[in-house]
Amino acid sequence: MQIPNIKSLSMKKVLFVCLGNICRSPMAEGVFQDLLEQNNLTDQISCDSAGTGAYHVGELADHRMRDTAKQHNLELTSRARQVTEEDLHEFDYVLAMDKSNYRNIMRLTNDPNSIKAQVMLMRDFDELDQGGEVPDPYYGGIDGFENVYQILKRSNEKFLAHIQQAEN
Ligand code: 4NP
Repeated sequence: MQIPNIKSLSMKKVLFVCLGNICRSPMAEGVFQDLLEQNNLTDQISCDSAGTGAYHVGELADHRMRDTAKQHNLELTSRARQVTEEDLHEFDYVLAMDKSNYRNIMRLTNDPNSIKAQVMLMRDFDELDQGGEVPDPYYGGIDGFENVYQILKRSNEKFLAHIQQAEN
């Protein structure tokens, strides 16, 4: 699918957020980065990921998520970090994987009207379960990781089309 270029001059920044920043959001970042590269958009849109919790700060993504990514020719190289209030002033779009993540992101600011970011749920862009949650695969079986990949691939294709429409 060839998508037309964004005309806006400023770089748009996207942040994907889950709880640990070792499963869902690193995969979201990997899938979205791949879409940006395929569509020659890396000079117009950038992405990163973070977690609401600090338990895994500094770690690579979970090996099960990295193995799933590898099966789809993606390499996840990010290191976990915790989301901060500053992120809400730095990024244009913040995509929460589930509703608990969303609430914890919004708790970072006392004044939601003052932030730059549009904070949304990743599955707002999933036509198969709009407004649903990306399920946490951490304590489940290996199938859960492939399911997360499929959800993120579908949702991110629509999310990219949404940004392009919004910014053009
Ligand atoms: P994530 O998954 O939020 O998709 O990175 C989790 C990773 C670790 C934990 C929970 C969820 N944990 O409790 O350590």
